[in-house]
Amino acid sequence: MWYKKSIAKLISEAEQSGEGTLKRTLSSTGLIALGIGAIIGAGLFSLTGIAAADHAGPAVMLSFIIAAVGCAFAGLCYAEFASMIPVAGSAYTYSYATMGEFMAWIIGWDLVLEYALAAATVAVSWSQYFNQLLLMMGLHIPPELLTGPFEGGMINLPAIIIVCLLSLLLMRGTQESSAVNNILVILKVGVVVLFIALGWQFIDPANHTPFIPTNEGEEMVKQGTMGFWDFWNSDYRGHYGWTGILQAAGVVFFAFIGFDAVSTAAQEAKNPKRDMPIGIIGSLIICTILYVLFSYVMTGLAPYTAFSGDAKPVATAFEKTGYHFLNTAMIVTIIAGYTSVILVMLLGQSRVFYSMSKDGLLPKFFSDLSKRQTPWKTNLIFMVFVSIFAGFVPVSDLGHMVSIGTLFAFTLVCIGILVLRKTNPEIERPFKTPLVPLVPILGILVCVLMMAALPIESWERLAIWMAIGVAFYFAYGYKNSVLRKEKERANGGNIE
Ligand code: ALA
Repeated sequence: MWYKKSIAKLISEAEQSGEGTLKRTLSSTGLIALGIGAIIGAGLFSLTGIAAADHAGPAVMLSFIIAAVGCAFAGLCYAEFASMIPVAGSAYTYSYATMGEFMAWIIGWDLVLEYALAAATVAVSWSQYFNQLLLMMGLHIPPELLTGPFEGGMINLPAIIIVCLLSLLLMRGTQESSAVNNILVILKVGVVVLFIALGWQFIDPANHTPFIPTNEGEEMVKQGTMGFWDFWNSDYRGHYGWTGILQAAGVVFFAFIGFDAVSTAAQEAKNPKRDMPIGIIGSLIICTILYVLFSYVMTGLAPYTAFSGDAKPVATAFEKTGYHFLNTAMIVTIIAGYTSVILVMLLGQSRVFYSMSKDGLLPKFFSDLSKRQTPWKTNLIFMVFVSIFAGFVPVSDLGHMVSIGTLFAFTLVCIGILVLRKTNPEIERPFKTPLVPLVPILGILVCVLMMAALPIESWERLAIWMAIGVAFYFAYGYKNSVLRKEKERANGGNIE
C-alpha cells in the first residue's frame, strides 16, 4: 500500500498525445478563467453578509485577506506540483508519487468530499437566489420545496434540478461545458466589477464605523475582569473584535475553494510548466482583489447588522444604490456565476474519480467513456449522490464539510512538497515554491488552525467518511491496483 508511482513515468504519460489522450487546448488565460469559474460563488455572494453580520462587521475585508494569505501558502505548493507533474488528477496524483498509494487513495476520497459537496452547497445557495428571482417575477414556489427536512421543509427542489441539468451537460461533452463556463465567468466577473463600480459612490462612511465592532469579552480580558481561557471558552469568542475577524476568515475561506481545481486540468494546458503556476496564483490574486473591494462596498452600502440571517445579501446591499432597477440583472448574473462553480466542481470531481479508476483503485466503469468521451457513468452516479445532499442536508453542515475536506487536502499537498524536496531533489521544477520549508510549514499551520476552528461535528463526519474510504480501499483498491499488479509482475509474482 506504500507503492509510489514513478515521477518519470507520470511525466512521460503526460507528454503523450493523440488518440485517447486529453487535448491540450488551454492557454494561461483559459486556466485563469477556469480558476475564477470555480472560485467566485456562494462564498462571496452569500457568506460575506453572514460573516460580516455575525463575526467581523466591516472588518470582513481583513478576514478575506487572512484567508487569502492562508490559501496562498497552499497555492504556491500546488503550483510547484502542477508545473512539475502536469497530469490530470491534481492532489491525488501528487500524493501517489510522493506518499504512496494509500495516501493517494485517502486524498482522492477526500477530494470527492470537497468537490461533490461543494457542488451541493453552492446548489443550495443557487436555489435561494433563484427563488428571489421568481419572487421578483411574481412567482411563488411552496416553501416546503425550498428547504430540506432538517430546516422545516421537505426537499430543496431547485437545487436538485440544477445539479441534474449540469450533470447532463457534462455528459454531453467537456468542450461544450467549457464553452458554457467561459460565458458564465465573463458574466460573473462583470457583475462583481459592476457592483464595486456602481456601489462605490453610495458608500455611507457611517456604515464603516466602527470598522472593527467591539467584542465585549475581549474588552473584559483587556481590563482584567475576565480570564483569557474563560473568554476563549465563552460565546464572546468570535463575536466581533479580533477573534471575530479570525472566525470570519474561517467562514469566507469557502470563497477561495476551487483554485486547486485549476490543477486538475494540467493535462489540457498547452504549456503546463509555465501556465499552471500562472493559472493557480493568477486566479487567486484576481479573486482576492475583487473580494476585498466587494466586501468594502457591500458593508459600506448597508449596516452590517442588516445582513443577519440574509441568504442574498447582495440584493439587500444593492437596493441602497440608485441603480436598483439593475437588481434583477444582478441576480440573474449571480445565478449564472453559481452555475459555473457547480459545473467546475462536478467536472473536477469526475476527473479525480476517472484517474482513480484508471489506476485500478475504483471499479473500471468509473472510467468508461461515452462516445462523446465523457465519463458518463461517474457523472450519473454523482448526479444522484450530489442531488441527495443538495436536496436534504442543511447548507451550513455542507459548507463545513467542504471546508474541512479542502483544508485536509491542502495540508497533504504542503506535506508532499516537503517530502519530495527530500526524496527527489533532482527533478526539474519549472516553478519552485519560495522559502521552503517555511512556506509549506506555514501552509500546514494555517490549514490545521482553520480546521481546528470548525465545529466538532465536521471532524466526526470527516472521520466517518474516511473510515468508509479506508474500508473500500482494502476491500477493492488494494487488490485491484494497477501499480501493485505491475510491481508484483516485475517481482516475479512475489508479493512483498
Ligand atoms: N469558492 C466557491 C464558492 O464560493 C466554492 O462558491
